[in-house]
Amino acid sequence: MKRAVIRGTGRAVPSRLVTNADLSEMMDTTDGWIQERTGIKQRYWVQEGEILGASDLGLEASHKALEKAGWKPEDIDLIIFATLSPDIFFPGSGCLLQTKLGLSSIPALDIRQQCTGFLYSLVTADAYIRSGLAGKILVVGAEIHSTGLDKTTRGRDVAVLFGDGAGAVCVEGVETGTDMGVLASVLHADGSGAGALMTELPASRLPNRIPLDLKGEEVARYYPVMNGKSVFKTAVRKLPQVTREVLEKAALDIQDVDMIFPHQANLRINQAYQQYMKIDEGRIFNNIDRYGNTTAASIPIALDEALEQNIVGRNGETILFVAFGAGYTWGAVLYRF
Ligand code: ACO
Repeated sequence: MKRAVIRGTGRAVPSRLVTNADLSEMMDTTDGWIQERTGIKQRYWVQEGEILGASDLGLEASHKALEKAGWKPEDIDLIIFATLSPDIFFPGSGCLLQTKLGLSSIPALDIRQQCTGFLYSLVTADAYIRSGLAGKILVVGAEIHSTGLDKTTRGRDVAVLFGDGAGAVCVEGVETGTDMGVLASVLHADGSGAGALMTELPASRLPNRIPLDLKGEEVARYYPVMNGKSVFKTAVRKLPQVTREVLEKAALDIQDVDMIFPHQANLRINQAYQQYMKIDEGRIFNNIDRYGNTTAASIPIALDEALEQNIVGRNGETILFVAFGAGYTWGAVLYRF
């Protein structure tokens, strides 16, 4: 059987470290409020005036992943790029990354599934590999949130949460008789939750996609808006549900999982999940304190850190990726080294 195996990982963040204290100079917020509600202490944002797109951060992460995998860019059959903050409205960041890698003609696709974007991408890579359509796939999750946040007190509920970052993973199809690589996956979406977390403009559904006459408060339509309580409550319900689904699919128990990598949206969400699933603290990987919510990049960044620190990666170890985010979208993937 063909299995999707992770060969190398990499991560990248911009050079500007932004602490909660820095934010409290831009808007009416405090380090205490942010840490207590979210667990975030700092995040990385692009420098003021710097031109840096999701594909640029993705490129840096990809080079590191390629080096660890021992691949050259020419080895890649397909690029899958997850982002909610593409470099430009179109074409997709996957195409931009392809040319920055010095490649031409290989397919490149963008996945726009927000915090679940990396999982949608990994499952798509798995499907390409199982069907024999591709053998070596570069999966990237990358976000530049900071250039699109309302950094005034009006936008403080959202702005304090998000960080810029990228994670890349080299996924290879391997013919094996061993139960390894991507074991099982589950993806879901519920578009009725779209309004709870979205950025409205620019919008092709409007008679004028680029309204030039926005006045005063209407400018906020370019910034992400969120019904935080609703997102929180739905996340803490869906994460355990989808975990049970994927475990059932693989005929495994939560105790068979060595380490869980939840999407890093809010430490409180992950702590609620941990208590609900009765998992010890040592089996759940969190790094939101240092990165904030990097959306599609959060799981590959976490995996890269955990591999670097030898927290996971031993043959036969089983890990779980689980995410919930805008859309709504949610999913889970079980993986064995
Ligand atoms: N600093 C200080 N005060 C603030 C801030 C801030 N940054 N933001 C909001 N407040 C104020 C509010 O105005 C409100 O004041 P009021 O009581 O006077 O009206 C008070 O703090 C409480 O606000 P709540 O929104 O009720 O705070 P809550 O405890 O719900 O926490 C939070 C907000 C952290 C956003 C939480 O709801 C949450 O984490 N939600 C989920 C976020 C998430 O998971 N996003 C997911 C995915 S992202 C993706 O998919 C792209």
